[in-house]
Amino acid sequence: MKKLTVLSMIAAALLLTACGDSATGAEAKAATETKTEVAAPMKCEAGKCGEGKCGGDKKSAATEAKEAASTAVEKATEAVKETASEATEAVKEKASSAVDSVKETATSAVDSVKSAAASATAAVTAAVDTGAGKALYAKCAGCHGADGKTKAMGKAAPVAGQSAADLEAKLAGYKAGTVNAVGMGMLMKGQVASMSDEDIKAVSAYMAGL
Ligand code: HEC
Repeated sequence: MKKLTVLSMIAAALLLTACGDSATGAEAKAATETKTEVAAPMKCEAGKCGEGKCGGDKKSAATEAKEAASTAVEKATEAVKETASEATEAVKEKASSAVDSVKETATSAVDSVKSAAASATAAVTAAVDTGAGKALYAKCAGCHGADGKTKAMGKAAPVAGQSAADLEAKLAGYKAGTVNAVGMGMLMKGQVASMSDEDIKAVSAYMAGL
């Protein structure tokens, strides 16, 4: 008797599964009351159940229960498979976007290191230039003033306040013997004769900063 009740419960469950969402509480109750083999198939309306799931009174409730169970297992398996594949996709996407963002971060880190290195190099170059220019200007300060504002020999224009490019051009002119602003170009030629182009550039940069 107990076994029968269990079977009828299974039959009821099977009905609910096989007949889909349309099964109501009342139907379930009715199915339970049918016990094993009887009216269970009658609860299925035409068209709602396919492939003899509910039809025919030849099948025993046990068989139907088995079928229902196997269908349920199949459905569950499929659902698990789907969920798993969805989860895998999501993980894949996350992983790939993580890789992308790591790439971006790495790239921007490399860029900022590059630009830091470049500006450090520029700073060192500038410091070397300024240092060299300052050393070179030592022998000029006597006539042009440490601050570059003295009119050399009372005549020359102060070097302070002039651009590096102008000063460089003038010194190159003195070296070549082509500049003679106040009649003392030869004096200045002697001052810059031994200076290289780099020296002239460096001292001009230093004077422009005075
Ligand atoms: C003995 C003094 C004396 C010394 C030292 C001297 N100068 Fe002169 N400097 C002059 C005189 C004088 C002139 C004007 C020359 C002319 O007639 O063009 C002049 C002109 C210049 C000018 C052009 C100014 C202008 O705008 O017309 C520059 C630049 C200059 N000197 C730079 C230097 C530098 C750099 C040194 C050191 C390497 C130096 N001088 C050393 C006396 C001196």
